[in-house]
Amino acid sequence: MTQTRFFRTRNPKSDEEAEPTTSGGGGAAMRVIVPLQGVVQGRGGVVLGSVIPCVLFYFLQLYLKRNRSDPNRDPPPSPEVASPGNSSPTSGNPLVELSVLPRTLSRTFLSPRSSGPVCVSGRANSIARGGDSSFFLGMRKFLEDPYDELDNPTGIIQLCVAENKLSSDLVQNWLTENGRDAILGGNHNGLSVAGTASYQPMDGLTDLKLAVAGFMSQAVGNSVSFSPSQLVFTTGVTSAIETLCFCIADPGHAFLVPSPYYPGLDNDVKWRTGVEIVPVPCRSADNFSLSINSLDRAFHQAKKRGLKVRGIIISNPSIPVGNQLHRETLYNILDFAREKNIHIISNEIFVGSTYGSEEFVSMAEMIDLEDSDRDRVHIAYGLSEDLSLPGFRVAAIYSLNENILAAAKKLARFSSVSAITQNLLSSMLLDTVFVQRFIRINRERLGEMHGKFVAGLKELDIKCMKSNGGFYCWADMSKLIRSYSEKGELELWDKLLDIGKVNVAPGSSCNCIELGWFGFCFTTLIDREIPIVMDRIRRISEACKSYS
Ligand SMILES: *[C@@H]1O[C@H](CO)[C@@H](O)[C@H](O)[C@H]1NC(C)=O
Repeated sequence: MTQTRFFRTRNPKSDEEAEPTTSGGGGAAMRVIVPLQGVVQGRGGVVLGSVIPCVLFYFLQLYLKRNRSDPNRDPPPSPEVASPGNSSPTSGNPLVELSVLPRTLSRTFLSPRSSGPVCVSGRANSIARGGDSSFFLGMRKFLEDPYDELDNPTGIIQLCVAENKLSSDLVQNWLTENGRDAILGGNHNGLSVAGTASYQPMDGLTDLKLAVAGFMSQAVGNSVSFSPSQLVFTTGVTSAIETLCFCIADPGHAFLVPSPYYPGLDNDVKWRTGVEIVPVPCRSADNFSLSINSLDRAFHQAKKRGLKVRGIIISNPSIPVGNQLHRETLYNILDFAREKNIHIISNEIFVGSTYGSEEFVSMAEMIDLEDSDRDRVHIAYGLSEDLSLPGFRVAAIYSLNENILAAAKKLARFSSVSAITQNLLSSMLLDTVFVQRFIRINRERLGEMHGKFVAGLKELDIKCMKSNGGFYCWADMSKLIRSYSEKGELELWDKLLDIGKVNVAPGSSCNCIELGWFGFCFTTLIDREIPIVMDRIRRISEACKSYS
Protein backbone atom coordinates (compact mmCIF):
# COMPACT_ATOMS: atom_id res chain seq x y z
CA MET A 1 0.00 0.00 0.00
CA THR A 2 2.70 2.36 1.02
CA GLN A 3 4.63 1.35 -2.03
CA THR A 4 1.78 2.10 -4.44
CA ARG A 5 1.19 5.47 -2.92
CA PHE A 6 4.86 6.20 -3.02
CA PHE A 7 5.23 5.47 -6.69
CA ARG A 8 2.15 7.52 -7.47
CA THR A 9 3.47 10.57 -5.80
CA ARG A 10 6.93 10.13 -7.11
CA ASN A 11 6.23 9.48 -10.73
CA PRO A 12 2.73 10.01 -12.03
CA LYS A 13 3.81 8.50 -15.33
CA SER A 14 4.31 5.06 -13.88
CA ASP A 15 0.55 4.63 -13.65
CA GLU A 16 0.12 5.24 -17.34
CA GLU A 17 3.01 2.95 -18.07
CA ALA A 18 1.46 0.14 -16.13
CA GLU A 19 -1.85 0.26 -17.97
CA PRO A 20 -0.96 -1.18 -21.35
CA THR A 21 0.66 -4.11 -19.60
CA THR A 22 -2.54 -5.10 -17.88
CA SER A 23 -5.07 -4.22 -20.56
CA GLY A 24 -2.98 -5.20 -23.58
CA GLY A 25 -4.58 -8.64 -24.05
CA GLY A 26 -8.16 -7.35 -23.92
CA GLY A 27 -7.28 -4.58 -26.34
CA ALA A 28 -6.04 -7.02 -28.97
CA ALA A 29 -9.21 -9.11 -28.69
CA MET A 30 -11.33 -6.02 -29.13
CA ARG A 31 -9.41 -5.09 -32.24
CA VAL A 32 -10.59 -8.39 -33.75
CA ILE A 33 -14.16 -8.33 -32.54
CA VAL A 34 -15.16 -4.77 -33.27
CA PRO A 35 -14.46 -4.78 -37.03
CA LEU A 36 -16.14 -8.18 -37.26
CA GLN A 37 -19.33 -6.87 -35.76
CA GLY A 38 -19.31 -4.01 -38.21
CA VAL A 39 -19.14 -6.39 -41.18
CA VAL A 40 -21.69 -8.80 -39.89
CA GLN A 41 -24.31 -6.33 -38.72
CA GLY A 42 -24.49 -4.85 -42.22
CA ARG A 43 -25.84 -8.12 -43.59
CA GLY A 44 -28.70 -8.34 -41.18
CA GLY A 45 -29.65 -10.99 -38.76
CA VAL A 46 -29.44 -14.05 -41.02
CA VAL A 47 -25.79 -14.76 -40.54
CA LEU A 48 -25.70 -13.42 -37.02
CA GLY A 49 -26.81 -16.56 -35.35
CA SER A 50 -24.32 -18.95 -36.97
CA VAL A 51 -21.34 -17.06 -38.33
CA ILE A 52 -20.48 -14.83 -35.45
CA PRO A 53 -20.01 -17.55 -32.85
CA CYS A 54 -17.90 -19.61 -35.27
CA VAL A 55 -15.72 -16.75 -36.32
CA LEU A 56 -15.34 -15.52 -32.80
CA PHE A 57 -14.45 -18.97 -31.62
CA TYR A 58 -11.86 -19.31 -34.38
CA PHE A 59 -10.22 -16.06 -33.57
CA LEU A 60 -10.40 -16.68 -29.89
CA GLN A 61 -8.43 -19.89 -30.42
CA LEU A 62 -6.03 -18.08 -32.68
CA TYR A 63 -5.61 -15.32 -30.16
CA LEU A 64 -5.08 -17.69 -27.26
CA LYS A 65 -2.58 -19.71 -29.25
CA ARG A 66 -0.64 -16.64 -30.16
CA ASN A 67 -0.49 -15.46 -26.63
CA ARG A 68 0.12 -18.82 -25.05
CA SER A 69 3.07 -19.72 -27.24
CA ASP A 70 5.33 -17.63 -25.04
CA PRO A 71 3.88 -16.73 -21.69
CA ASN A 72 7.06 -14.91 -20.69
CA ARG A 73 6.95 -12.58 -23.61
CA ASP A 74 7.76 -9.02 -22.68
CA PRO A 75 4.75 -6.85 -22.02
CA PRO A 76 3.94 -4.40 -24.79
CA PRO A 77 5.92 -1.21 -24.70
CA SER A 78 4.66 1.74 -22.81
CA PRO A 79 2.96 4.42 -24.87
CA GLU A 80 5.79 6.75 -23.87
CA VAL A 81 8.36 4.66 -25.67
CA ALA A 82 6.36 3.62 -28.72
CA SER A 83 5.60 6.60 -30.86
CA PRO A 84 2.28 6.34 -32.73
CA GLY A 85 4.06 6.24 -36.07
CA ASN A 86 5.92 3.16 -34.95
CA SER A 87 2.96 0.87 -34.46
CA SER A 88 3.36 -1.25 -37.53
CA PRO A 89 0.36 -2.01 -39.76
CA THR A 90 0.74 -5.69 -38.94
CA SER A 91 -0.33 -5.18 -35.40
CA GLY A 92 -3.37 -3.19 -36.44
CA ASN A 93 -5.70 -5.74 -37.94
CA PRO A 94 -4.83 -9.43 -37.80
CA LEU A 95 -7.96 -10.32 -39.76
CA VAL A 96 -6.68 -8.68 -42.93
CA GLU A 97 -3.20 -10.14 -42.73
CA LEU A 98 -4.28 -13.68 -42.15
CA SER A 99 -6.77 -13.84 -45.02
CA VAL A 100 -4.04 -13.15 -47.59
CA LEU A 101 -1.35 -15.31 -46.07
CA PRO A 102 -0.04 -18.48 -47.64
CA ARG A 103 -0.41 -21.32 -45.19
CA THR A 104 3.31 -21.95 -44.85
CA LEU A 105 3.99 -18.44 -43.72
CA SER A 106 1.29 -18.28 -41.15
CA ARG A 107 3.50 -19.99 -38.58
CA THR A 108 5.64 -16.88 -38.37
CA PHE A 109 2.55 -14.97 -37.49
CA LEU A 110 1.40 -17.46 -34.95
CA SER A 111 4.63 -17.19 -33.01
CA PRO A 112 5.28 -14.18 -30.82
CA ARG A 113 6.33 -11.14 -32.76
CA SER A 114 7.88 -7.90 -31.75
CA SER A 115 5.14 -5.34 -31.59
CA GLY A 116 7.24 -2.20 -31.38
CA PRO A 117 10.45 -0.93 -29.82
CA VAL A 118 12.01 -3.00 -27.05
CA CYS A 119 10.86 -1.67 -23.74
CA VAL A 120 12.79 -1.03 -20.54
CA SER A 121 11.73 -1.01 -16.90
CA GLY A 122 9.67 1.81 -15.53
CA ARG A 123 12.43 2.73 -13.12
CA ALA A 124 15.06 2.84 -15.88
CA ASN A 125 12.69 4.96 -17.90
CA SER A 126 12.17 7.43 -15.11
CA ILE A 127 15.94 7.74 -14.62
CA ALA A 128 16.67 8.01 -18.34
CA ARG A 129 13.96 10.57 -18.87
CA GLY A 130 14.21 12.39 -15.58
CA GLY A 131 15.13 16.03 -16.03
CA ASP A 132 18.61 16.95 -14.96
CA SER A 133 18.99 19.68 -12.39
CA SER A 134 20.92 22.81 -13.28
CA PHE A 135 23.92 21.22 -11.56
CA PHE A 136 24.14 18.46 -14.15
CA LEU A 137 23.25 20.74 -17.06
CA GLY A 138 26.10 23.02 -16.05
CA MET A 139 28.45 20.06 -15.93
CA ARG A 140 27.53 19.10 -19.45
CA LYS A 141 28.05 22.61 -20.78
CA PHE A 142 31.40 22.77 -19.06
CA LEU A 143 32.54 19.55 -20.70
CA GLU A 144 31.73 21.00 -24.11
CA ASP A 145 33.84 24.08 -23.56
CA PRO A 146 36.32 23.65 -20.70
CA TYR A 147 38.65 26.48 -19.79
CA ASP A 148 42.32 25.98 -20.48
CA GLU A 149 44.85 28.70 -19.86
CA LEU A 150 46.56 28.17 -23.22
CA ASP A 151 44.23 26.17 -25.44
CA ASN A 152 40.86 27.64 -24.51
CA PRO A 153 41.24 30.81 -22.43
CA THR A 154 37.63 31.86 -23.04
CA GLY A 155 36.21 28.48 -21.99
CA ILE A 156 34.05 27.77 -18.96
CA ILE A 157 35.74 27.66 -15.55
CA GLN A 158 34.51 24.83 -13.38
CA LEU A 159 33.47 25.94 -9.87
CA CYS A 160 30.76 23.39 -9.35
CA VAL A 161 32.14 19.91 -8.81
CA ALA A 162 33.80 19.18 -5.49
CA GLU A 163 37.29 18.33 -6.59
CA ASN A 164 40.50 19.36 -4.91
CA LYS A 165 43.40 20.09 -7.20
CA LEU A 166 45.28 22.23 -4.70
CA SER A 167 47.51 19.36 -3.63
CA SER A 168 47.59 17.19 -6.74
CA ASP A 169 51.31 17.84 -7.03
CA LEU A 170 51.96 16.00 -3.77
CA VAL A 171 49.96 12.98 -4.91
CA GLN A 172 51.63 13.09 -8.29
CA ASN A 173 55.09 13.05 -6.75
CA TRP A 174 54.26 10.17 -4.47
CA LEU A 175 52.84 8.13 -7.33
CA THR A 176 55.84 8.81 -9.54
CA GLU A 177 58.20 7.61 -6.84
CA ASN A 178 56.22 4.73 -5.40
CA GLY A 179 53.39 3.83 -7.77
CA ARG A 180 55.08 1.00 -9.59
CA ASP A 181 56.30 -0.77 -6.47
CA ALA A 182 53.00 -0.23 -4.73
CA ILE A 183 51.11 -1.97 -7.51
CA LEU A 184 53.53 -4.73 -8.34
CA GLY A 185 54.70 -5.42 -4.84
CA GLY A 186 57.97 -5.31 -3.05
CA ASN A 187 57.89 -2.28 -0.86
CA HIS A 188 55.67 -3.70 1.87
CA ASN A 189 54.78 -7.22 2.96
CA GLY A 190 55.30 -8.73 -0.46
CA LEU A 191 52.42 -7.69 -2.71
CA SER A 192 52.45 -9.50 -6.01
CA VAL A 193 50.58 -9.83 -9.25
CA ALA A 194 48.74 -12.79 -7.73
CA GLY A 195 47.44 -10.48 -5.03
CA THR A 196 46.05 -8.04 -7.55
CA ALA A 197 44.91 -10.17 -10.46
CA SER A 198 42.97 -12.82 -8.55
CA TYR A 199 39.66 -12.49 -6.70
CA GLN A 200 39.83 -10.68 -3.39
CA PRO A 201 37.25 -10.22 -0.63
CA MET A 202 34.52 -7.93 -1.99
CA ASP A 203 34.30 -5.77 1.11
CA GLY A 204 37.99 -4.90 1.05
CA LEU A 205 41.50 -6.10 1.79
CA THR A 206 42.50 -6.40 5.43
CA ASP A 207 45.64 -4.38 4.78
CA LEU A 208 43.67 -1.45 3.50
CA LYS A 209 41.15 -1.69 6.33
CA LEU A 210 43.99 -1.36 8.81
CA ALA A 211 45.45 1.55 6.91
CA VAL A 212 42.15 3.40 6.49
CA ALA A 213 41.12 2.90 10.11
CA GLY A 214 44.44 4.37 11.13
CA PHE A 215 44.05 7.25 8.70
CA MET A 216 40.53 8.05 9.88
CA SER A 217 41.61 8.02 13.51
CA GLN A 218 44.42 10.36 12.64
CA ALA A 219 42.12 12.68 10.69
CA VAL A 220 39.93 13.21 13.76
CA GLY A 221 42.96 13.88 15.92
CA ASN A 222 42.77 10.42 17.54
CA SER A 223 39.62 11.36 19.45
CA VAL A 224 38.22 8.03 18.21
CA SER A 225 39.96 4.79 17.48
CA PHE A 226 38.29 3.36 14.38
CA SER A 227 38.26 -0.40 14.30
CA PRO A 228 39.27 -2.00 10.97
CA SER A 229 36.78 -4.84 11.36
CA GLN A 230 33.84 -2.43 11.20
CA LEU A 231 34.77 -1.13 7.73
CA VAL A 232 33.34 -2.01 4.33
CA PHE A 233 34.82 -0.41 1.23
CA THR A 234 32.71 0.82 -1.65
CA THR A 235 33.39 2.55 -4.94
CA GLY A 236 33.01 6.14 -3.85
CA VAL A 237 30.82 7.70 -1.21
CA THR A 238 27.84 7.57 -3.58
CA SER A 239 27.85 3.84 -3.21
CA ALA A 240 28.50 3.99 0.55
CA ILE A 241 25.46 6.18 1.08
CA GLU A 242 23.27 4.15 -1.24
CA THR A 243 24.24 0.91 0.50
CA LEU A 244 23.47 2.40 3.91
CA CYS A 245 20.09 3.70 2.70
CA PHE A 246 19.34 0.31 1.20
CA CYS A 247 20.16 -1.40 4.50
CA ILE A 248 18.22 1.00 6.69
CA ALA A 249 15.05 1.72 4.73
CA ASP A 250 12.55 -0.02 2.47
CA PRO A 251 11.03 1.53 -0.66
CA GLY A 252 8.66 4.30 0.30
CA HIS A 253 10.46 5.04 3.57
CA ALA A 254 12.17 8.38 4.02
CA PHE A 255 15.29 10.10 5.30
CA LEU A 256 15.41 13.58 6.79
CA VAL A 257 18.18 15.62 5.19
CA PRO A 258 19.16 19.14 6.29
CA SER A 259 19.12 21.41 3.24
CA PRO A 260 20.94 22.82 1.37
CA TYR A 261 22.54 19.47 0.57
CA TYR A 262 24.79 18.49 -2.32
CA PRO A 263 23.02 18.13 -5.67
CA GLY A 264 23.91 14.48 -6.30
CA LEU A 265 22.40 13.22 -3.06
CA ASP A 266 18.88 12.89 -4.47
CA ASN A 267 20.14 10.45 -7.07
CA ASP A 268 22.39 8.59 -4.64
CA VAL A 269 19.62 8.04 -2.14
CA LYS A 270 16.52 7.62 -4.29
CA TRP A 271 17.30 6.14 -7.70
CA ARG A 272 17.77 2.49 -6.95
CA THR A 273 16.51 2.14 -3.39
CA GLY A 274 13.12 3.79 -3.90
CA VAL A 275 13.43 5.72 -0.64
CA GLU A 276 12.48 9.35 -0.27
CA ILE A 277 14.24 12.46 1.00
CA VAL A 278 12.44 14.93 3.22
CA PRO A 279 14.48 18.16 3.29
CA VAL A 280 14.91 19.90 6.62
CA PRO A 281 15.36 23.55 5.73
CA CYS A 282 18.23 25.45 7.34
CA ARG A 283 18.30 29.24 7.11
CA SER A 284 20.82 32.00 6.74
CA ALA A 285 19.56 33.57 9.98
CA ASP A 286 20.92 30.47 11.78
CA ASN A 287 24.10 30.44 9.67
CA PHE A 288 22.55 27.45 7.87
CA SER A 289 23.06 25.27 10.91
CA LEU A 290 20.57 22.56 11.74
CA SER A 291 17.94 23.29 14.35
CA ILE A 292 16.21 20.48 16.18
CA ASN A 293 12.90 22.32 15.84
CA SER A 294 13.03 22.11 12.05
CA LEU A 295 14.04 18.48 12.33
CA ASP A 296 11.02 17.81 14.50
CA ARG A 297 8.72 19.74 12.16
CA ALA A 298 9.97 17.86 9.10
CA PHE A 299 9.53 14.56 10.92
CA HIS A 300 5.90 15.30 11.69
CA GLN A 301 5.16 16.64 8.22
CA ALA A 302 6.58 13.44 6.74
CA LYS A 303 4.42 11.41 9.08
CA LYS A 304 1.34 13.36 7.98
CA ARG A 305 2.17 12.54 4.38
CA GLY A 306 2.21 8.88 5.33
CA LEU A 307 5.99 8.58 5.02
CA LYS A 308 7.83 6.46 7.54
CA VAL A 309 11.07 8.20 8.50
CA ARG A 310 13.91 5.74 9.02
CA GLY A 311 16.84 8.05 9.47
CA ILE A 312 18.68 11.34 9.15
CA ILE A 313 21.51 11.96 6.70
CA ILE A 314 23.88 14.70 7.78
CA SER A 315 27.14 15.79 6.26
CA ASN A 316 29.81 17.07 8.60
CA PRO A 317 31.45 19.40 7.61
CA SER A 318 28.29 20.27 5.73
CA ILE A 319 28.20 20.25 1.94
CA PRO A 320 27.93 22.78 0.33
CA VAL A 321 27.88 25.34 3.17
CA GLY A 322 31.13 24.16 4.72
CA ASN A 323 30.27 24.67 8.39
CA GLN A 324 30.78 22.03 11.04
CA LEU A 325 28.23 20.54 13.37
CA HIS A 326 29.08 21.40 16.95
CA ARG A 327 29.22 18.83 19.69
CA GLU A 328 26.03 20.25 21.16
CA THR A 329 24.15 19.84 17.87
CA LEU A 330 25.43 16.29 17.46
CA TYR A 331 24.13 15.43 20.94
CA ASN A 332 20.76 16.90 20.05
CA ILE A 333 20.59 14.95 16.80
CA LEU A 334 21.48 11.80 18.67
CA ASP A 335 18.77 12.47 21.28
CA PHE A 336 16.28 13.10 18.52
CA ALA A 337 17.21 9.86 16.74
CA ARG A 338 16.91 7.92 19.98
CA GLU A 339 13.52 9.41 20.77
CA LYS A 340 12.16 8.58 17.31
CA ASN A 341 14.12 5.33 17.13
CA ILE A 342 15.71 6.14 13.76
CA HIS A 343 19.20 5.90 12.26
CA ILE A 344 21.85 8.52 11.57
CA ILE A 345 24.10 8.47 8.52
CA SER A 346 26.95 10.90 8.95
CA ASN A 347 28.77 11.77 5.75
CA GLU A 348 32.26 12.78 6.90
CA ILE A 349 34.12 12.94 3.61
CA PHE A 350 35.69 16.28 4.50
CA VAL A 351 37.12 15.28 7.87
CA GLY A 352 40.68 15.73 6.65
CA SER A 353 39.77 18.84 4.64
CA THR A 354 38.95 21.19 7.48
CA TYR A 355 40.79 24.46 7.90
CA GLY A 356 40.68 27.05 10.62
CA SER A 357 40.91 26.38 14.31
CA GLU A 358 37.53 24.89 15.13
CA GLU A 359 37.53 21.43 16.68
CA PHE A 360 36.02 18.74 14.48
CA VAL A 361 33.76 16.23 16.23
CA SER A 362 32.93 12.97 14.49
CA MET A 363 29.67 11.16 15.09
CA ALA A 364 31.87 8.16 15.78
CA GLU A 365 33.12 9.90 18.89
CA MET A 366 29.55 10.30 20.12
CA ILE A 367 28.81 6.59 19.85
CA ASP A 368 32.05 5.79 21.59
CA LEU A 369 30.54 7.52 24.59
CA GLU A 370 26.90 6.45 24.24
CA ASP A 371 26.79 2.69 24.16
CA SER A 372 23.07 2.54 23.50
CA ASP A 373 23.34 4.34 20.18
CA ARG A 374 26.01 2.19 18.60
CA ASP A 375 23.53 0.43 16.38
CA ARG A 376 21.95 3.53 14.91
CA VAL A 377 24.96 5.59 13.82
CA HIS A 378 26.82 4.94 10.57
CA ILE A 379 29.67 6.89 9.03
CA ALA A 380 30.33 7.31 5.32
CA TYR A 381 33.90 8.22 4.67
CA GLY A 382 35.65 8.86 1.35
CA LEU A 383 39.27 9.01 0.38
CA SER A 384 38.42 10.89 -2.81
CA GLU A 385 38.26 14.26 -1.12
CA ASP A 386 40.76 14.11 1.69
CA LEU A 387 43.50 12.62 -0.45
CA SER A 388 42.53 14.30 -3.74
CA LEU A 389 41.93 10.93 -5.36
CA PRO A 390 38.37 11.04 -6.70
CA GLY A 391 39.38 8.89 -9.66
CA PHE A 392 40.36 6.05 -7.31
CA ARG A 393 36.72 5.60 -6.30
CA VAL A 394 37.41 4.48 -2.76
CA ALA A 395 35.09 5.13 0.15
CA ALA A 396 34.15 3.32 3.32
CA ILE A 397 31.15 2.52 5.45
CA TYR A 398 31.92 2.45 9.16
CA SER A 399 29.23 0.93 11.33
CA LEU A 400 29.01 -0.85 14.67
CA ASN A 401 25.63 -2.34 13.73
CA GLU A 402 26.45 -5.97 12.94
CA ASN A 403 23.31 -6.50 10.85
CA ILE A 404 24.02 -3.55 8.63
CA LEU A 405 27.65 -4.53 8.40
CA ALA A 406 26.80 -8.10 7.39
CA ALA A 407 24.41 -6.89 4.67
CA ALA A 408 26.82 -4.21 3.48
CA LYS A 409 29.61 -6.80 3.16
CA LYS A 410 27.41 -8.92 0.92
CA LEU A 411 26.19 -5.93 -1.06
CA ALA A 412 29.80 -4.92 -1.66
CA ARG A 413 29.77 -7.36 -4.57
CA PHE A 414 28.09 -4.59 -6.57
CA SER A 415 30.64 -1.96 -5.75
CA SER A 416 33.93 -3.55 -4.82
CA VAL A 417 37.15 -1.62 -5.25
CA SER A 418 39.72 -3.19 -7.55
CA ALA A 419 42.61 -4.90 -5.76
CA ILE A 420 45.12 -2.85 -7.70
CA THR A 421 43.61 0.36 -6.34
CA GLN A 422 43.46 -1.04 -2.83
CA ASN A 423 47.09 -2.08 -2.90
CA LEU A 424 48.16 1.28 -4.18
CA LEU A 425 46.15 3.06 -1.55
CA SER A 426 47.32 0.94 1.36
CA SER A 427 50.92 1.58 0.39
CA MET A 428 50.19 5.27 0.26
CA LEU A 429 48.44 5.31 3.64
CA LEU A 430 51.14 3.23 5.27
CA ASP A 431 53.61 5.91 4.28
CA THR A 432 52.75 7.93 7.38
CA VAL A 433 55.38 10.54 6.72
CA PHE A 434 53.77 11.31 3.38
CA VAL A 435 50.21 11.21 4.74
CA GLN A 436 50.89 13.53 7.64
CA ARG A 437 52.72 15.96 5.44
CA PHE A 438 49.96 15.81 2.84
CA ILE A 439 47.17 16.52 5.33
CA ARG A 440 49.08 19.40 6.88
CA ILE A 441 50.01 21.06 3.58
CA ASN A 442 46.61 20.41 2.05
CA ARG A 443 44.86 22.06 5.00
CA GLU A 444 47.11 25.08 4.76
CA ARG A 445 46.48 25.43 1.04
CA LEU A 446 42.72 24.97 1.50
CA GLY A 447 42.58 27.68 4.12
CA GLU A 448 44.71 30.01 2.02
CA MET A 449 42.71 29.53 -1.16
CA HIS A 450 39.44 29.87 0.74
CA GLY A 451 40.64 33.15 2.21
CA LYS A 452 41.65 34.52 -1.19
CA PHE A 453 38.43 33.48 -2.85
CA VAL A 454 36.18 34.91 -0.14
CA ALA A 455 38.17 38.15 -0.21
CA GLY A 456 37.76 38.32 -3.99
CA LEU A 457 34.00 37.94 -3.72
CA LYS A 458 33.87 40.46 -0.90
CA GLU A 459 35.40 43.04 -3.19
CA LEU A 460 32.46 42.46 -5.49
CA ASP A 461 30.15 42.99 -2.51
CA ILE A 462 29.25 39.30 -2.39
CA LYS A 463 29.30 37.83 1.11
CA CYS A 464 30.02 34.22 1.99
CA MET A 465 28.77 32.20 4.91
CA LYS A 466 31.52 31.48 7.40
CA SER A 467 32.92 28.04 6.69
CA ASN A 468 35.83 25.90 7.80
CA GLY A 469 35.67 22.68 5.89
CA GLY A 470 35.25 21.27 2.42
CA PHE A 471 35.73 22.78 -1.00
CA TYR A 472 32.86 25.26 -1.34
CA CYS A 473 32.13 28.88 -0.53
CA TRP A 474 28.45 29.44 0.05
CA ALA A 475 27.76 32.92 -1.29
CA ASP A 476 24.79 35.23 -1.00
CA MET A 477 24.00 36.70 -4.43
CA SER A 478 20.36 37.41 -3.68
CA LYS A 479 20.93 41.11 -4.38
CA LEU A 480 21.74 40.21 -7.96
CA ILE A 481 18.65 38.22 -8.82
CA ARG A 482 15.92 39.98 -10.72
CA SER A 483 13.00 38.32 -8.97
CA TYR A 484 13.01 36.46 -5.69
CA SER A 485 12.01 33.18 -7.28
CA GLU A 486 13.68 30.03 -8.52
CA LYS A 487 13.36 31.48 -12.02
CA GLY A 488 15.24 34.58 -10.95
CA GLU A 489 17.97 32.49 -9.40
CA LEU A 490 18.33 30.29 -12.47
CA GLU A 491 18.46 33.36 -14.71
CA LEU A 492 21.50 34.56 -12.82
CA TRP A 493 23.03 31.07 -12.91
CA ASP A 494 22.48 30.98 -16.65
CA LYS A 495 24.15 34.37 -17.13
CA LEU A 496 27.12 33.31 -15.03
CA LEU A 497 27.47 30.19 -17.14
CA ASP A 498 26.65 31.45 -20.63
CA ILE A 499 28.05 34.96 -20.53
CA GLY A 500 30.40 34.94 -17.55
CA LYS A 501 31.66 31.44 -18.36
CA VAL A 502 31.79 30.29 -14.76
CA ASN A 503 29.92 27.16 -13.76
CA VAL A 504 28.61 27.39 -10.20
CA ALA A 505 25.99 25.50 -8.18
CA PRO A 506 22.74 27.43 -7.71
CA GLY A 507 21.10 27.03 -4.30
CA SER A 508 17.99 25.55 -5.85
CA SER A 509 20.00 22.58 -7.12
CA CYS A 510 20.99 22.03 -3.49
CA ASN A 511 17.38 22.32 -2.30
CA CYS A 512 18.15 25.53 -0.43
CA ILE A 513 14.99 27.12 0.91
CA GLU A 514 16.32 30.67 0.47
CA LEU A 515 16.94 31.96 -3.03
CA GLY A 516 19.99 33.64 -4.46
CA TRP A 517 22.63 31.51 -2.72
CA PHE A 518 25.36 29.93 -4.83
CA GLY A 519 28.06 27.36 -4.16
CA PHE A 520 31.55 28.08 -5.51
CA CYS A 521 34.09 25.29 -5.44
CA PHE A 522 37.40 27.09 -4.98
CA THR A 523 39.72 24.08 -4.91
CA THR A 524 39.92 23.58 -8.66
CA LEU A 525 41.71 26.90 -9.12
CA ILE A 526 45.30 28.00 -9.07
CA ASP A 527 46.23 31.40 -7.66
CA ARG A 528 46.46 33.27 -10.94
CA GLU A 529 43.00 32.11 -11.97
CA ILE A 530 41.30 33.91 -9.08
CA PRO A 531 41.48 37.37 -10.74
CA ILE A 532 40.11 35.85 -13.96
CA VAL A 533 37.16 34.31 -12.10
CA MET A 534 36.48 37.52 -10.17
CA ASP A 535 36.59 39.52 -13.37
CA ARG A 536 34.02 37.28 -14.97
CA ILE A 537 31.73 37.45 -11.93
CA ARG A 538 32.17 41.22 -11.80
CA ARG A 539 30.93 41.59 -15.38
CA ILE A 540 27.74 39.74 -14.54
CA SER A 541 27.20 41.34 -11.16
CA GLU A 542 27.58 44.84 -12.59
CA ALA A 543 25.05 44.07 -15.29
CA CYS A 544 22.67 42.75 -12.63
CA LYS A 545 23.06 45.49 -10.04
CA SER A 546 20.52 47.63 -11.81
CA TYR A 547 17.79 45.30 -10.48
CA SER A 548 18.31 46.21 -6.87
C1 LIG B 1 26.46 33.32 12.67
O1 LIG B 1 27.83 33.53 12.42
C2 LIG B 1 28.28 34.82 12.77
C3 LIG B 1 29.70 35.00 12.27
O2 LIG B 1 30.48 33.91 12.59
C4 LIG B 1 28.14 35.01 14.29
O3 LIG B 1 28.58 36.29 14.67
C5 LIG B 1 26.67 34.82 14.65
O4 LIG B 1 26.53 34.86 16.04
C6 LIG B 1 26.15 33.49 14.14
N1 LIG B 1 24.72 33.43 14.32
C7 LIG B 1 24.10 32.39 14.84
C8 LIG B 1 22.62 32.48 14.94
O5 LIG B 1 24.68 31.39 15.19
